[in-house]
Amino acid sequence: MDKDKIIALLNKDLEDEHGAIIQYLSHAYAMGEGELACEIEAISRDEMRHLDWLAETIAELGGVPSLKRGKMLMEGNPVSAWMQNDVSLEEDAVKQYREHIAAISDPKIKRLLKRILSDEEAHHDKFEHFVEKAEKEGIKDVRGIRQDEVTDTLNWGIKHEYTVILQYLLHSYMSPNEEVKEQMEDQAINEMQHLGWLAEELVGGCGRPVIEHTDVDRSKKTADMLKADIAIEKEVTARYDRAAKEIEDPDLKKLLIRIRDNEIYHTEVFQDLLKQEEKKG
Ligand SMILES: [Fe+2]
Ligand SMILES: [Fe+2]
Ligand SMILES: [Fe+2]
Repeated sequence: MDKDKIIALLNKDLEDEHGAIIQYLSHAYAMGEGELACEIEAISRDEMRHLDWLAETIAELGGVPSLKRGKMLMEGNPVSAWMQNDVSLEEDAVKQYREHIAAISDPKIKRLLKRILSDEEAHHDKFEHFVEKAEKEGIKDVRGIRQDEVTDTLNWGIKHEYTVILQYLLHSYMSPNEEVKEQMEDQAINEMQHLGWLAEELVGGCGRPVIEHTDVDRSKKTADMLKADIAIEKEVTARYDRAAKEIEDPDLKKLLIRIRDNEIYHTEVFQDLLKQEEKKG
């Protein structure tokens, strides 16, 4: 099989991992705090590792990791029906990884896909167990229908965080600069924390998280990537700062200030990297 075909198969797997991450996070957030939500978040972290391994492999092969989101099964009610959807998603993943393992002969990639497959099989069994658990414990969707300036601000934040998670991950996969790669991955993980904090705050305040993203910068040169990343960080720092001043709830104010200060740190890290990159060029 030629390289381009392998890249296409791995990108299909990558897209489906992306869909699974968002499906599972949406379910975990909608349940509020609790053991089941924690277990589902742990599964979504496994999928994030898969996404990372697949994207690194695609970049090593000379491809560009896809940012498309694969199939998601978001319908249904109550929570046990969501868990059944998660079982179905894992069934599809198991089937697809088996097909791709059979189709690809490169031993290193085969080994990687087998490694991922074993996780998906374990996830499948866990979600089957969660169907029963959700029924037995009567686990509910705790989201409310609140919609006002506060929930709009939190959903704006979620949209921003999701966008930069994808952007920084893409930049980390595509930049040849080792320090940039490492920092981008680190800051993407920090943005994942922000997304989680905002979503939990939103559900705690009777709102509904909307996990969608906007355009991602696809610059080819490292310096251009950093310039785009600095621009977006400056913009959101100002927006979080304004929101923190306007919001009255003291805990939410503190949260927004904490995120704002993280964003200031990101700007400074990226500015240093840009200086070094420009000196080289
Ligand atoms: Fe899985
Ligand atoms: Fe952030
Ligand atoms: Fe940031």
